[in-house]
Amino acid sequence: MKIAVVGLGVMGRLHARVLLGEPAVESVVGVETDPARAAEISAELGVAVRETLDEVLPEVDAVSVTLPDDLHVAAATLALTAGKYVLVEKPLATSAVDCEAILAAQPLPGRLMVGHLLRFDERLRELKRRIDAGELGRLRYLRIHRVNTRTTADRIAARASVTAFLGVHDLDLLHWLTGQDITSAAAAGRRVFGSYSDVTVATLDLADGTLALLENHWLLHPSSARSCLAGVQVFGDDGSALVDLSTDELELITEAERRSVRIDSRNWTHDPQVSGGSLRRELASFVNAVATQTPVEVSGEDGLRAVRAVELVEAAATAPEGA
Ligand SMILES: NC(=O)c1ccc[n+]([C@@H]2O[C@H](COP(=O)([O-])OP(=O)(O)OC[C@H]3O[C@@H](n4cnc5c(N)ncnc54)[C@H](O)[C@@H]3O)[C@@H](O)[C@H]2O)c1
Repeated sequence: MKIAVVGLGVMGRLHARVLLGEPAVESVVGVETDPARAAEISAELGVAVRETLDEVLPEVDAVSVTLPDDLHVAAATLALTAGKYVLVEKPLATSAVDCEAILAAQPLPGRLMVGHLLRFDERLRELKRRIDAGELGRLRYLRIHRVNTRTTADRIAARASVTAFLGVHDLDLLHWLTGQDITSAAAAGRRVFGSYSDVTVATLDLADGTLALLENHWLLHPSSARSCLAGVQVFGDDGSALVDLSTDELELITEAERRSVRIDSRNWTHDPQVSGGSLRRELASFVNAVATQTPVEVSGEDGLRAVRAVELVEAAATAPEGA
């Protein structure tokens, strides 16, 4: 199959490189409006790069949208209307209204996948299997956090809140791990770099009464050894699970099994020789859906639910400028 990757920035380059390593993918064509970036990626990956999505649609089977968030709606709608399978990087769009417009453009259900990468982290898949099997008993409380360095803030803070960029990962995880909707939020935020909240702490009520705490910011010093400080802690009546997403460890303690296991896991690698990590599993899942003409693994509805939760948290966080 032939796949277009639209927007060859940080994520687009990774998508193109990983897709080129998928056996079912014959070729990748890039779409990029910045001529210098287009030339750089074309030379690096040996792919053709065009200026507009319209030009490539007739020749591709599927499209991966790795544009800035506010450009997702136009590109995804165009590609879905043309009958293509479409993968959209998270968040699906910048508002629930735009997400609904994208969903409505699907000619058939199951054609639109959202890049909620963490669902492809082996540790979190293991954790979900165990929660679903009832090993932790009834869940009572989840603590989830995701912190990036100021380097990310330098790139993103002018165009999105920390909840829309980082928190959307965690809000999707809460939905996916618990199977519950988030029904209400109380939150506090602080603006540091611009007009969006850069520090947000929220308490969330899930539909079954479970409580969750969410913390997101991008204030970590750029020289920190960890570019991302993140984790999930789950506390149930019969067990606890502690996943430090800054490491490769999954610590699970239940009455039946009191141990800690190491699972090799990374989001992606910048090593051009290695095509690995959760991003490879995510893209392989998308390619498989296209090849078999079956529904994608992370649906547009999942993406909409996460964006609705972002809106709930953003509305609850007042985000005054930090003192
Ligand atoms: N899954 C993850 O963990 C993760 C991590 C980072 C970013 N993202 C998401 O990936 C998406 C892209 O983010 P990024 O950090 O790669 O952005 P980026 O700014 O690095 O890249 C965007 C690229 O799109 C190009 N572009 C802009 N308008 C265009 C147009 N009309 N047609 C073609 N190209 C155009 C830009 O020139 C740029 O090269 C965002 O939705 C972001 O939230 C996901």
